[in-house]
Amino acid sequence: MTSQLWGRDVASSYDEDAADMFEPAVVTPIVDFLAALAEPGRRALEFAIGTGRIALPMSERGISMAGIELSEAMLDVLRAKPGADRLEIVNGDMSADTVDGEFDVVYLVFNTISNLLTQAAQVACFRNAARHLRPGGHFVIENGVPDLRRLPPGAVAVPFTVAEDRVGFDTYDLLHQRLTSHHYRITEGRAGVFHSHHRYAWPAKLDLMAELAGMTLTERWADWQRAEFTADSGSHVSVWAKP
Ligand SMILES: C[S@@+](CC[C@H](N)C(=O)[O-])C[C@H]1O[C@@H](n2cnc3c(N)ncnc32)[C@H](O)[C@@H]1O
Repeated sequence: MTSQLWGRDVASSYDEDAADMFEPAVVTPIVDFLAALAEPGRRALEFAIGTGRIALPMSERGISMAGIELSEAMLDVLRAKPGADRLEIVNGDMSADTVDGEFDVVYLVFNTISNLLTQAAQVACFRNAARHLRPGGHFVIENGVPDLRRLPPGAVAVPFTVAEDRVGFDTYDLLHQRLTSHHYRITEGRAGVFHSHHRYAWPAKLDLMAELAGMTLTERWADWQRAEFTADSGSHVSVWAKP
């Protein structure tokens, strides 16, 4: 049960569409944070490695990198990049498939735990992370905090971008803890459309999933620069340790 949206069309324009997320100002603090946790063995595993936005710069720091990725199309884009041959890649499901060996850190960034659309799949993902960690290793997730405070009673949608060339809003299914993100990019009067499906989860729920997988929360920040996590934080970077 996952969001199967990462086909050829999305993959071929992913880096361009998410260009802001590839900026050094975004990537460097993430790599600094994760590279520190990759000590002492310097082995890291990225769940949902995508086109290598984080894994390639991690590898450039001398960290031995592996990745699990569901979309063959995303992997084709990754494999065409310089340095991709240094990565060990498995085309599979991060909630079930495995890579050989033990890792110092396993990580899952850019809200991607939410691509697993059931609680069972999300719990399985935590268990799969724990399975890959050495004792004392860490699992790191970057995820949004559900934006439900912006959803008035009776309303079904919350806009997140309204501009001349872009419109984006989330629609909620509160009963099943799901949301769909609707993205419309307008070029020369025509709209390109992308929808992604997510299962949202509160940080405390992720802590419970970690406990089920035998891991304990060690850090929670609002961002990769370790800003304080508060009740108003829109997202979080959380770290759980395997005993
Ligand atoms: C938002 S992209 C993030 C890619 C990359 N981690 C990054 O930060 O740019 C989400 C990725 O998750 C992958 N994905 C979704 N469900 C997955 C699953 N169950 N197992 C492995 N990868 C999955 C998608 O194919 C896609 O490449």
